[in-house]
Amino acid sequence: MIGSGGREDALSWRLARSPSCSLVAACPGNAGTASRGANWEDLVATDGKGIAERSRREGIDLAVIGPETAIAAGVADHLRSAGIATFGPSRRAGRLETSKVFAKRFMERHGIPTASAQVVHSLQAAKKVLAEWDGACVVKADGLASGKGVVVVDSAREAEDLLQRWFGDEGVPGGGREVLLEECLTGREVSVFALGDGSSFRIFGSACDYKRASDGDTGPNTGGMGAYSPPTDFPREFVDVIHSRILEPLLRGLSAERERYVGVIYCGLMWTAHGPYVIEFNVRFGDPETQVLMPRVRGDFAQLLAAIANGSPDRPGVDLDDQSCVGVVLATADYPRTSTPLEGLTNDLALSHGCAAFWGASRLNGSFITASGGRVLTVTALGADVTTARHSAYAAVDTVTQRFGKDRPLRFRRDIAAPPVLLRW
Ligand code: AMP
Ligand code: GLY
Repeated sequence: MIGSGGREDALSWRLARSPSCSLVAACPGNAGTASRGANWEDLVATDGKGIAERSRREGIDLAVIGPETAIAAGVADHLRSAGIATFGPSRRAGRLETSKVFAKRFMERHGIPTASAQVVHSLQAAKKVLAEWDGACVVKADGLASGKGVVVVDSAREAEDLLQRWFGDEGVPGGGREVLLEECLTGREVSVFALGDGSSFRIFGSACDYKRASDGDTGPNTGGMGAYSPPTDFPREFVDVIHSRILEPLLRGLSAERERYVGVIYCGLMWTAHGPYVIEFNVRFGDPETQVLMPRVRGDFAQLLAAIANGSPDRPGVDLDDQSCVGVVLATADYPRTSTPLEGLTNDLALSHGCAAFWGASRLNGSFITASGGRVLTVTALGADVTTARHSAYAAVDTVTQRFGKDRPLRFRRDIAAPPVLLRW
């Protein structure tokens, strides 16, 4: 398991519970993954050569890649060249996430519904485009910018002010020069995951996440403060619509561009009055969406990922439970402005049946845990419906915050999966 966040803890937890799996090593791993095998702490998640060498030496049968940074660094390519079965796309296919301009052009080439957009390289060019602009505008930096590269503004005037800073002293987030000016879509957002084996995509769950820091979707953007799965009243026919309008043209496009996509594709969709539009593709699982997806998985998940990575047609029966799962992220008080490490935490959380807690970046020091800061834990609970799951998740959050005490305050949103989610599509 490559990576060190809550997503990787949840994946490693689910892999370790698979009958076919004897041990999960994590690279570099965190306080949660440490209990399931070795943490390769001396390697970083982007060191493809080092990870491939160690994997061969240790007889690893399957590598699962968590973060986009590892994909962008070509870790999957290194592992495959070393003969290790790998669940995660190549660096080249990773451009669907790592370059928003590449992704936009790809979608336009292959007829995948997405917001219309124009690419600009300078303030002067932006001003020209914005002179004709009507209404809200989504301004997107081209490269990976850890959630800081997308700003939705209400008017062309505000877009221009922002770009004055981006093309001025501040620099474009992510360090590139290209910026997209995109039509602002309205609708309901949903994250849909599909597993790709090189010749097909199969939908494997969906979730809704909460990106803003504070209740009522206010405050700055974060990596994600909570999630629930499945989205409420997600009509079954949506699966067919997503297949025919998004995944089939995506597969045809990849094949036309000679790319075999092995791994998960995360479709960030806006469900508009005209159906689903792609806001973004990510070439990995979501965080914290994975933390609410993994507790719903039934069957030998490790065997499924291994079959996909090996190109084997024999797939074990793996499904998602009908129960709902709600996850609440507990973060350090200063997140997302800064991330101050927090020491002296414990893993002994005594949560009720059906609840789990997944660690973000952290280290086990003897019997205590030091969290790097930022997103410390995702606390999850299963329930017969989203309301029951939500109730149990917040009860578990209380247990955890009491256990940590007032000296180690963690902040969290109180409205994850709260009633507006029950709005109809
Ligand atoms: P991204 O980093 O591309 O996921 O964008 C972050 C957030 O910005 C998304 O989750 C949406 O809420 C919003 N967003 C991005 N693109 C659009 C768009 N074209 N229309 C409306 N909202 C958008
Ligand atoms: N939760 C959003 C992401 O993983 O990109």
